[in-house]
Amino acid sequence: MHNILGIETSCDDTAFAVVENGQQVLGMHRIGQPFHNQYGGVVPEAAARLHAENWQQAYEETLTQSGKTLTDMDAIAVTFAPGLQTSLLTGVTVANTLAADRCIPLIPVHHLYGHISSLFLERKQEEILFPLMVFIVSGGHTHLYRLEDMAHARIISATRDDAAGEAYDKVAKMLGLGYPGGPIVEQYAAKGDSARFALPRPLPAKTDLDFSFSGLKATVYRLVQQQDDIDDSFRTDMCAAFEAAVEDTFTRKIGQALTQNPDIKQLGFVGGVSANTRLSRALERVATERNIDFVKPVKTAFSTDNGAMIAAAAYQLLRAGLKPEKDFAPALPVLDLQTWLEGLCEERDYLPKPGLWVQ
Ligand code: KG4
Ligand code: ZN
Repeated sequence: MHNILGIETSCDDTAFAVVENGQQVLGMHRIGQPFHNQYGGVVPEAAARLHAENWQQAYEETLTQSGKTLTDMDAIAVTFAPGLQTSLLTGVTVANTLAADRCIPLIPVHHLYGHISSLFLERKQEEILFPLMVFIVSGGHTHLYRLEDMAHARIISATRDDAAGEAYDKVAKMLGLGYPGGPIVEQYAAKGDSARFALPRPLPAKTDLDFSFSGLKATVYRLVQQQDDIDDSFRTDMCAAFEAAVEDTFTRKIGQALTQNPDIKQLGFVGGVSANTRLSRALERVATERNIDFVKPVKTAFSTDNGAMIAAAAYQLLRAGLKPEKDFAPALPVLDLQTWLEGLCEERDYLPKPGLWVQ
């Protein structure tokens, strides 16, 4: 039985979790930062300060829920990159301190590897099929990966400009709907008429699998500027048109990617935007039409940033017995599963030096 404490502070969520065997969530707590709502985006300096203020409460609540103590942990996993440097610093410092204090192995986790690992939470290991294609869509990323297993991954494509989640946030801001925009835009879109506005489908060249959302965002901006009276019917119709454009782009590009990778067994959809029901259904259709299985995190709380996915990621790293390719974690040490299992308490040099993981 392996208990891993996962810590995630890369953006504006202070998130902790205790996960058993990379799968069962024993305790999980996240403290968000509504402070940023008024600005329509994250203010880095404020985010850093709030992480420093909130981490202890999130940590204690997580341990209480899990019925465990720090000394029950077999490892501590922490997001080391990518993210806001000053936000990462809280998680990394806390992780280093707790690990050094109790001589618990510390496992740095790449945030995107964490999102991919969210698929394993509250699922059996064998439910995830390889080769696996994973579409990571969040406020900072729109990245498509192909994984042969959890130790070998290659990037297929990414956005050339804005991430899809960021476009959701910006559209919400333009319409005065608050932050984060994704869930609000989804609610408005469900009530709107997508045919009212003709928005562009950003699809560079036909075989090109990259994404782009800045043109779409700019068109929404122009239409909002031209409108004198922004009422609820304008908002719902604009949200519906925007979401329809994102859906079209996703299904076209992922469809092409699956056609170009005919041996893929499963399509995974992860990251904050995978909480979106309409986009999930659309991607599920694209997969099932090709007899490919579709998976997404079993709960919305596993789609958006959380500590459990970081703990699950550390478990996958240990299970694989080696580091994933450099796309994920250039600074990651090669972890020897056997050594870890035997207990590393006497081998203090194995613990990363404080601050090492923030570059
Ligand atoms: O993965 P995440 O929590 O943080 C990052 O790593 O960025 O993703 C947050 C993003 C935000 O842009 C938010 O607006 C978007 O996920 N999001 C959604 C939905 N829920 C969250 N986008 C569309 N529909 C949703 N239901
Ligand atoms: Zn994320």
